[in-house]
Amino acid sequence: MAFFKLHLLLGACWALPAVSLTVPSKALWFQQKVNHFSASNATYLQRYYMDDKHWAGPGSPIFVIMGGERGIPPEMGIFWPWISEVLARQFGGLVLVPEHRFYGESLPYGPASYEAEHLKGAMTSQEALADAAELIRSTQLARNCTVTGTSGYCPVLVIGGSYSGFLAAMMRMRYPAVVDMAYASSAPLKFYSQEVGQYAYYAKVTESAEKSMKGCAAAVLQAFQKMMDFFQTANSSQIAQQFSVCEPVSQPADLADNLLFLAEQTFATLNMVNYPPNSNTGLRRTCGSFIAAAGHRELEAFRDLFLQETHLGFMNQPLSRSTCFNVSAHLPAGESATARCGDWSGCSSGRDGEMWDFQTCSFEVERIGFGSEEQMFPSHPWTMEWLKEHCMKRFAVRPQPKSLVDLWGFDEATLVSSTSRILFVNGLNDGWSVAGILQNLSREKGLIAINLPNGAHHSELSLGLEETEEVRQVRQQILAIVGQWLEEIN
Ligand SMILES: *[C@@H]1O[C@H](CO)[C@@H](O)[C@H](O)[C@H]1NC(C)=O
Ligand SMILES: *[C@@H]1O[C@H](CO)[C@@H](O)[C@H](O)[C@H]1NC(C)=O
Ligand SMILES: *[C@@H]1O[C@H](CO)[C@@H](O)[C@H](O)[C@H]1NC(C)=O
Ligand SMILES: *[C@@H]1O[C@H](CO)[C@@H](O)[C@H](O)[C@H]1NC(C)=O
Ligand SMILES: *[C@@H]1O[C@H](CO)[C@@H](O)[C@H](O)[C@H]1NC(C)=O
Repeated sequence: MAFFKLHLLLGACWALPAVSLTVPSKALWFQQKVNHFSASNATYLQRYYMDDKHWAGPGSPIFVIMGGERGIPPEMGIFWPWISEVLARQFGGLVLVPEHRFYGESLPYGPASYEAEHLKGAMTSQEALADAAELIRSTQLARNCTVTGTSGYCPVLVIGGSYSGFLAAMMRMRYPAVVDMAYASSAPLKFYSQEVGQYAYYAKVTESAEKSMKGCAAAVLQAFQKMMDFFQTANSSQIAQQFSVCEPVSQPADLADNLLFLAEQTFATLNMVNYPPNSNTGLRRTCGSFIAAAGHRELEAFRDLFLQETHLGFMNQPLSRSTCFNVSAHLPAGESATARCGDWSGCSSGRDGEMWDFQTCSFEVERIGFGSEEQMFPSHPWTMEWLKEHCMKRFAVRPQPKSLVDLWGFDEATLVSSTSRILFVNGLNDGWSVAGILQNLSREKGLIAINLPNGAHHSELSLGLEETEEVRQVRQQILAIVGQWLEEIN
């Protein structure tokens, strides 16, 4: 029997909400090619999870939840009970969750995987899609599914949220013979097609904060100004003391910029998990404390943010207040790591953070910067020059912002002619929604957009089985769309 367990994610990362209810599962291993697009015979073992308790046999669908930019340990297993407990039950579906290569334990070159040469050779989303396609085909065979058009065919729906939502949509586009439909939640396609201005993301984060509590934006902006003033005059030991940074302070040179950026990315994380709105979310708590601090204790408000809100647990509750702020614990792994990485919403920490830093340094380039009037953050424009220098220093690679979109044609104007049956869901309070597909591109082709006016980052996926009214309605709508597609396919 499945049971739900609280999963804690530390640090800020946009892959998954900082909290999610998950269904623990046993790890399985699949022999994968290291290189799908070369004739090399090298293989590795990819970790994945499977749930067949609702599986109704050949002729029933397979639901694939794409792993994104983090490892998936067994205690997390099959995340999103709405998929494994509701969608799968409704349609007798089998649920598969492949871990993305180079994250967690799916390491194409074992412990040597993190070396720059291996990353350059095999760490791409193309390879990750090909991994998933192989796993799907092999599962269909093992489950005695028959070919398309016959009654024993097992139609495939690929599901994902955030970057993995992008991958879900790309699975449908790039593997139309393997994947019949996709459900892409909070998938920021337009960042990867370079169709979004750099200030849009944090402008939306600001707008949502203000919506969450009136006066929040002005208080936060003023506090950041105080922080910048303080950095102008203080030396590193004073900075460490003011923000209760743990001893020894390992990176005095970057300390101020690391702290500034970690504060900014914490607002990005709080924005992503700000659901249900107007409940006791971390964002509301933080807005409240910055408004209360205005004019007299702004720096203390940042210290509290570091000690509390960077450690979120169940339902937005702080895990516990740390006694000091461990900056290194929030940095990506690897040489020359800085909190400000390829993704200016934050890369997360450790190896996962390092791998996402690499991806945003190579093919998943995201233009996210600070500096418009609509933001509550100090001006700090993103530039391609900064990214190039960062990526050269970190991985000796050059960012390729246009390669994927030129090859695959997923920009908004081209999508309609390239694909069909993709459901895009977005929460309109989510910073990432600025890069989402928010319009019904074609009802006939099933390129459908559903927007949650109060939703945050893939809230309808992350929320457990106790639903808000808005999520309940959207889930009903999704069940109807999937049901209709399955009829169409059979
Ligand atoms: C790949 O080919 C080499 C040389 O024939 C062989 O030794 C090796 O076992 C093969 N590896 C796999 C995974 O088949
Ligand atoms: C698939 O079919 C074969 C041959 O009919 C049978 O032996 C096997 O048990 C079936 N496998 C599954 C998973 O149903
Ligand atoms: C930083 O400034 C304080 C106060 O002026 C001083 O006592 C301390 O020695 C300085 N520390 C460093 C590392 O420069
Ligand atoms: C800070 O985090 C690093 C990396 O996770 C760890 O090695 C170190 O022991 C931690 N330091 C403190 C004081 O907790
Ligand atoms: C797209 O169409 C569906 C009905 O098929 C509708 O429920 C939904 O609101 C539409 N989305 C937008 C953004 O208008």
